[in-house]
Amino acid sequence: MDRIRIEGGRRLSGAIPISGAKNATLPLMIASLLTDQKLTLENVPALADVALLKRILANHGVDYMVSGKRAGDAPNIGETLTLSAENIVDTTAPYELVSRMRASFWVVGPLLARMREARVSLPGGCAIGTRPVDFFLMGLEALGAKIDIEGGYVVAKAPKGLSGARVHFPHVSVGATHTIMMAATLAKGETLIENAASEPEVRNLADCLIKMGAKIDGAGTPKIRISGVDALQGTTHRVLSDRIETGTYAMAVAAAGGDVLLEHAEPGTLQAALDAITQAGAEITETNAGIRVCRNSSGLNPVDITTEPFPGFPTDLQAQFMALMTRAKGTSHIRETIFENRFMHVQELARLGADIHLDGQDATVHGVEHLKGAQVMATDLRASVSLVIAGLAAEGETEVNRVYHLDRGFERLEQKLSACGADIERLSG
Ligand code: EPZ
Repeated sequence: MDRIRIEGGRRLSGAIPISGAKNATLPLMIASLLTDQKLTLENVPALADVALLKRILANHGVDYMVSGKRAGDAPNIGETLTLSAENIVDTTAPYELVSRMRASFWVVGPLLARMREARVSLPGGCAIGTRPVDFFLMGLEALGAKIDIEGGYVVAKAPKGLSGARVHFPHVSVGATHTIMMAATLAKGETLIENAASEPEVRNLADCLIKMGAKIDGAGTPKIRISGVDALQGTTHRVLSDRIETGTYAMAVAAAGGDVLLEHAEPGTLQAALDAITQAGAEITETNAGIRVCRNSSGLNPVDITTEPFPGFPTDLQAQFMALMTRAKGTSHIRETIFENRFMHVQELARLGADIHLDGQDATVHGVEHLKGAQVMATDLRASVSLVIAGLAAEGETEVNRVYHLDRGFERLEQKLSACGADIERLSG
């Protein structure tokens, strides 16, 4: 199993190209199931989750082709991926595949809308919480689907097609919003989604669906109105820049010190996180090339944060911000409100000398003067990268084990950081 070795204490300086967003790419790829024509996605990141979803879609009969790269192209140019779901040969998404990536459950919406049936394995729990699918089922039932749970599978049928309806989510859910929005594009009549997720990835998906011929209003706000159409067509669409990768590297610079330009970053997609990083003492400047983050040798201020749906502070940056706060001059409070068990990084950060106390969904972080390198273990994607940030700011050598978690969501992490002067390398085996 690969490991990452970091010799901490180096300032970061240079430029980091931000990749296309994993969490926008996945639903966009799934949207290919809605049409028998070709969907071409640009700026697709080379990530393990993207590779796995290609396999899952291929199982339904989707052909895919990667193009657009020539010898000599800069490695940061994302892939151009063309997906063709001309013939859907299987409406079952099996346990072996769905259990490895929760987002693959979202195929239930497009399959049901286009094929009038879908049999999709329940995704089960994961390291960050139980993550049920009740909102998805409630939404699909509202659109007229008959749902049964059989042998761990959701069996959804709508022999006469789906019909538009009002769907009110009890809590904001990104995945349920993606899924019901996709399903409603091919339903008869109008659907109103209330308390919808307004994350930038939802807006990115809606923009693509609109180019495919869908009629959608209000994506990016809590109320989305969709008028169903008979069929969607192919199009070409660009994946937006990854706001979580942007925030992660901004926090890495704030933690290690330095001056780095985050190229192609879109500040409007992570304002709450940028505000918190600024309060912590880094300087953030928006330029036409991206976001520049600087921190000189002055210390870090403690900042309290609470994770919330967009536009609040994202849960996917909570672990990284905690790593930053471990070295603040004072005490900070971090509240996680989205997932009940997203503090797995706390015990690993403690191995580096962090002083953190947990009480339910609240973490109290007492800043320490120095972190010291140690062996640590990655537990999930964002937790792993928080350990990398802490390792960059620590004295001495840190070794992060189980880095396959990182490969799910961070493209060429070691190369991007070492190009800015970090002493970081991947060790195989
Ligand atoms: C998306 O997950 C992201 N994944 C997550 O990123 C992110 O942490 C999360 O949204 C919140 O922003 C992708 O986009 C691929 P939710 P999702 O449904 O859609 C509860 C990462 O690190 N809920 O918005 O699965 C749920 O348990 C990942 O990149 C129900 O109760 O998250 C959670 O507490 C991890 N019933 C809350 O809602 C449901 O039917 C929000 O989850 C659905 C959700």
